[in-house]
Amino acid sequence: MLIKKPDDIKPSEITPESVYRNRREFMKDSSKLMLGAAVAGMSGMVNGQEGDALKARAPASLEGSSPPSWLAKKFTDIKPAPDSEPFFTGETLTPYRDITNYNNFYEFGMDKDHPSRRSDKFQTDPWSIVVTGEANKAGRYNLEDILKPLDLEERVYRLRCVEAWSMVVPWIGFPLADLLQRFEPSSKAKYVEFETLVDPETMPGVTSRFAIVDWPYREGLRMDEAMNPLAFIAVGLYGSILPAQNGAPLRLVVPWKYGFKSIKSIVRINFRETQPLTSWVDLQASEYGFYANVNPNVHHPRWRQDKERRLPQTLFSRKYIDTRLFNGYADQVAHLYEGMNLSVYY
Ligand code: MTE
Repeated sequence: MLIKKPDDIKPSEITPESVYRNRREFMKDSSKLMLGAAVAGMSGMVNGQEGDALKARAPASLEGSSPPSWLAKKFTDIKPAPDSEPFFTGETLTPYRDITNYNNFYEFGMDKDHPSRRSDKFQTDPWSIVVTGEANKAGRYNLEDILKPLDLEERVYRLRCVEAWSMVVPWIGFPLADLLQRFEPSSKAKYVEFETLVDPETMPGVTSRFAIVDWPYREGLRMDEAMNPLAFIAVGLYGSILPAQNGAPLRLVVPWKYGFKSIKSIVRINFRETQPLTSWVDLQASEYGFYANVNPNVHHPRWRQDKERRLPQTLFSRKYIDTRLFNGYADQVAHLYEGMNLSVYY
C-alpha cells in the first residue's frame, strides 16, 4: 500500500444479484448436492449453472486441489445470510474472478496478481494455530479442532481498502467472538493480536528484497471490537473453500475497517493487556493507525477517503461511489468509539 501502482485489473463480468439470490435459495434447499460442490470447492464450483461459471473463472492454481473431507463436509451445511443489513447487502456482488485475482497479500508479492499467480505451492493442511497470552485455554490447536464445533454461515459484506477500491464479498465463516470465547480470555485481555504464517518455501514475498513488512504480518483489535457481532472469521467465499490468495485457511474480516486490518492465513492469536504494534503502524504510523476505521473525513496522504472505486472495473468504465463512515456499518459500531476523536485515533 505504500507504493502507488497503476491500475491493473482486467475487464470482468458482474454476477447478477438474481443469480446469487437463486444460489442462496439453492443453498437453503439442497444440502446433499452441496456436498459435491464443497468437494469441488477449491475450484470455485458452487452449484448448477452458476457453479460452472465460477469454475471457469477460478484461478488455475486452485484446480485439482481438494479440501480434507471433514472440511468439505462442513461446507454442505452453510446457513445463508439473512436478506437484510448488516449481514447482507443488496449491492451487486463483486465477481469471483475479481475477488480472487485482485489481492493484497504481500507474503506472495506486491502486485495485485502476485497472490493468485504465486500461491500454488501454499499448503493449508495440516494447519494449526497457537493461542498465547491472557487466556485460560492457551495452547496449540489444529484447524479441525478449531472449526469442528463451529457452524458455518454466510455474510455478504463490503470490503473497503485504504487504497480507495472496494468490493462486495459473500464470505463463509463464523463470528470471531465464537472462536475467541472458546479460549476463555481473562479479564486482563484488553486486546487481541493476530499473526500470519511466514513460510519462505511457499511465500516468495517474504524473501523478496522488495519486501517492506517486518514479517510476520501482524494485526490487532480491542477486545470489544473483536467481540462485536460483525467481526468475522472467513474460511470460504462464494460458497467454496477460501483460496490461498484470499487468506486460506482462515482470515479475519472486519467490514467497518480498512482492508489491511483483515489479516490472512492466521497462525497465532495472542490475548494482551496492551495495544499491539501492528504491521502498518510499524511501517508508517503517520499514515496508518491502529483503529483504521473507514472514515470519509480523514484522508490518507496519498488516497482521498471520501470516494471509492467499486470493483469490477474495465479500462473504459469505472464506478465511483461515496464512502460512508464505518463503511456503512455505523449503526452497529459507532458506539465503540464514543468520545474518541477519530482524526487522532485514525
Ligand atoms: N494479510 C496478510 N497476511 N498480508 C497482507 O499483505 N493485506 C491486507 C489484508 N490482509 C494483507 C493481509 C490488505 S492491505 C487488504 S486490502 C486485504 O487483506 C485484501 O484482502 P483481499 O485480497 O482478500 O481482497
